[in-house]
This record gives sequence, structure tokens and C-alpha cells, in this order.
Amino acid sequence: MVKPLKIVVTGASGFIAKNLRKYLSEKNLELVSISRNDFKNYKCETKIISKNYEEKNLLKKIQNSDVLIHLVGIGKQSVNTDYDMINTELTKYIVNLSKKARIKKIIFLSGLGVSSSTSLGYFISKYNAEKQIINSGLDYTIFRPSYIVGKDDLFSRNLKKQIKSGEIIIPGSGNYSIQPIHVSDVVKVIFESVLELKFNNKIIDLVGPDYVTFEKYVKLFSKGTKTKIRKIKLEEAYHNAIINSKSDFGIDDLNILIGNFKGNYKKLSKISKIEFKSVLKLLQSGRLL
Ligand SMILES: NC(=O)c1ccc[n+]([C@@H]2O[C@H](COP(=O)([O-])OP(=O)(O)OC[C@H]3O[C@@H](n4cnc5c(N)ncnc54)[C@H](OP(=O)(O)O)[C@@H]3O)[C@@H](O)[C@H]2O)c1
Repeated sequence: MVKPLKIVVTGASGFIAKNLRKYLSEKNLELVSISRNDFKNYKCETKIISKNYEEKNLLKKIQNSDVLIHLVGIGKQSVNTDYDMINTELTKYIVNLSKKARIKKIIFLSGLGVSSSTSLGYFISKYNAEKQIINSGLDYTIFRPSYIVGKDDLFSRNLKKQIKSGEIIIPGSGNYSIQPIHVSDVVKVIFESVLELKFNNKIIDLVGPDYVTFEKYVKLFSKGTKTKIRKIKLEEAYHNAIINSKSDFGIDDLNILIGNFKGNYKKLSKISKIEFKSVLKLLQSGRLL
């Protein structure tokens, strides 16, 4: 009998990890999932609860896995956890741990807009993480996602919360665009990158087929809900983000939106066999959430 693939997932309680673990648990696989907090595991899944990913708790259990999918990341900083600590240094640590454990490949989710010429702290931390992975000598696939949407993602949750309050805020003109991709396609393409050698040692934008302005997206999202849409000046949006860590849009949420990044959907659809869903069509037919 062929040995099932053994896959390690970090950040197991996160949005993408939850969707991915569910998808992978339906395949013939052995999963090892790591989270800081307790979670419900699948039959084929070994659960590891670890606050700091200490080597002594992990090494044996992840030894000789085929792939590690690193889904730990933050998009907001605080005095306790900053981008360098989590996005870069923890990735560096996980890369070294993977090497020690003789794991063959690492898959990482970076961000759309990351490049060697970026000046944004969030992107710099992801860029430095990418470098750790590229220079590790391990096989890798790095995805650079736009907004990954589905049931319970942070972006849609934020919009839903605003709808509940009766009003959605658009920072500035709303003319900047996003390229949302559905999480059900994301988990499929991650699995393709586990199985197929053509994904090895590549950086691939993870974007959907639609490139749509934020204003149009918000209008479709709130269609049929009587929600008022109110544009506020960027100055006001940034001011709210600076003085209130719980504001609807954080500083880097604004930076990323206004960055207006466009990914290479052609490249993704060429390498993958997936027929990517149009998030706009899902929204139009009320089937997104
Ligand atoms: N969702 C998107 O649209 C999107 C877009 C671009 C890039 N990405 C990237 O994709 C990855 C997964 O994103 P996601 O949407 O699933 O995010 P998420 O729901 O916030 O999950 C990220 C996970 O990272 C772990 N984590 C956070 N802070 C940590 C810390 N201080 N120490 C250790 N672990 C920590 C947590 O895992 P546990 O709670 O299990 O410990 C958390 O659930 C991230 O790297 C993110 O930057 C996502």
C-alpha cells in the first residue's frame, strides 16, 4: 500500500487553515495540525497545542512529513506582537524546524503587493519571510493572495458588522480595486501545490478572476439590505485607524486597499486545473456567505 502523504499545518485555528484542514481531511492523508489553542481535530489528524512552537514538543511529531503549510501570520501590529516577530522571525524559525525534521517542502501565504521595492512594513515582513523560504534549500510554493473570502473571513465579517450597524464606510473614493478569491478555490490550489511538481519553487499570485473597485464590491455585498454607503475622507479613515486599534479599517487594511494591487490571474489559471469561481457572481446570486 502507498503511504499516505503527511502534511503539517501551522496556525490551525485560522480562517484558511480551518477550511484547508476540512478539505484535506476528506482526502487520504495524514495531518498534523498545530495551534496555540485547543481545537477539534479530524480522525486522520494529530492535534498539537503549542504556544510558541517549541521544538521539543514538535520535532518528533512532524518528522519526515512531506509538506508543511505555514499559515501563521498577522495583518495588524500591537506592542506585544509585531510583523517582524510573527511574519518574519517565526517563519524563519519554522523553516529551520522543517529542515531539522527533514520535511521536503514548505508552502507559504505571503501577500499580493509584496515585492523587493515595497516600502510598507507589512509587506517587508512578508518579503523577508519569502526570502527565508527561498534560501532554505527546501522545495517551496509561495502564494501571494488578494482578499480570500468565504464563510467567516475577516474582510466579510468586517463588512457584515458594518451592515448590521446600518452603514458601510468607504475610505476615500472607493475607486481602488481588489481581486477576491474564494476560499474553496484557495484550499484546492494549495492541495494542487502539494501534489504537483510544477508548483515547486514558484511565487504565484492567488487572485480571483474579477478585478473590481471597492465601491462596486461593497454595493454588491450589501445589495438588498438597505445599508447606507458613506464615503469618508482618507484623512479621517487614517485618523480613526491611528487612534483606535478597533476601527473598521486598520492602517494596513487601508494601505493595502489603496495600494490597488493587481495580481497575475492568467499565470494562476494556467498552472492550475481549477475553474476559479467569480466572487462577484457568487455575490450577485447571494451564494457567497
Ligand atoms: N485571508 C486573507 O485574505 C489573506 C490574504 C493575504 C494573506 N493571507 C495570509 O494567509 C495566512 C492565513 O491567513 P488567515 O486569513 O487564515 O488568517 P487568520 O485567520 O488570522 O489566521 C492566522 C493564524 O496565525 C496564527 N497566529 C496569529 N498570531 C500568532 C502568534 N502571535 N503566534 C503564533 N501564531 C499566531 C493563529 O493560529 P492559531 O490561532 O491556530 O494559533 C491564527 O489563527 C496569513 O499568513 C495571512 O497573512 C491571508
